[in-house]
Amino acid sequence: MTAALTSRRAALITIGGTTVAVCLTACGASGSGDSAASSGPVSIPTSDVPVGSGRIVGRYVVTQATAGTFAAFSYLCTHQNLPVQQVTDAAIVCGRHGSTFSLADGSVLTGPAAQPLAKATVTVNGDTLTIG
Ligand code: FES
Repeated sequence: MTAALTSRRAALITIGGTTVAVCLTACGASGSGDSAASSGPVSIPTSDVPVGSGRIVGRYVVTQATAGTFAAFSYLCTHQNLPVQQVTDAAIVCGRHGSTFSLADGSVLTGPAAQPLAKATVTVNGDTLTIG
């Protein structure tokens, strides 16, 4: 395996004659200017989304507030357009300045954010969710 640094955040690595780009730190999650609309749809198994909570998938947050009820949102906090960091069994949490959002509808539970998370489309097809 050969690695060549191309920037602070990425490397090109050759494995068995195939060169791949590898993110070393937070590639594509640089904060302001990111847009959920710029990422394509993502698919995950429904079983990867805990009931009464959720998870961050790519540039989206997908939740399952109650069994079988899925919702998806942009992962960008509406306070300063930075990614939220965590989904708990109580809320979607942006630890930057403490905003929290509803698992069910992305509405603001605590500020400073004043606007809800942008909704994304989530489609259930058997045991697979497609978000985006
Ligand atoms: S960017 Fe999320 S609370 Fe400030």
